[in-house]
Amino acid sequence: MKKHIVLIGFMGAGKTTLGKKIASKLNMPFIDTDAIIEKQENKTISEIFRDNGEEYFRELEHDFILKFSDIEPSIISTGGGMPCYKNNMVLLKKTGCVIYLQHPPGQLANRLYHAKKSRPLIEGKTLDAIQSLIHFKLNERELYYKQADYILAPDSQTIDRILSLINNDYPCQFVTK
Ligand code: S3P
Repeated sequence: MKKHIVLIGFMGAGKTTLGKKIASKLNMPFIDTDAIIEKQENKTISEIFRDNGEEYFRELEHDFILKFSDIEPSIISTGGGMPCYKNNMVLLKKTGCVIYLQHPPGQLANRLYHAKKSRPLIEGKTLDAIQSLIHFKLNERELYYKQADYILAPDSQTIDRILSLINNDYPCQFVTK
């Protein structure tokens, strides 16, 4: 049974900001997978990448998804790579209605270049280098992202559109508390 709303998309897509707003409108818990992993490891994501490597981080993401069905219905914001490793996308779709927040690559590059959040895959990169990384990674990742139940191009109406999906047009048999 799908019980969560899961936001996926590239770094800088605004999953956390949007997720918090939807959770507050629906009065549901909000979960940010990066924040959970940081708390569990008592390290920032950058420190985990530096000390333990990306593969270890991907294991942590996968382990967390395995617990999704035990968590009460929540709005979940995922790390940008989470749906693209192991069988994570299949698992996400099992317990969640998955929404891909799709931005044009140029917009993502600008948002990431100016972002305050530290991200190990972006750290110290020029705008040009970020653009190349997005081009390369999106090429691989959209294969997974596009398996989402819904694909939305975020704009000022996004929250209302997600809320109306949940209320009116919800093929995911969504259950709230
Ligand atoms: C990553 C995205 C990050 C974080 C980590 C790796 C990725 O999350 O999980 O830095 O591989 O795209 P955000 O999408 O919240 O930035």
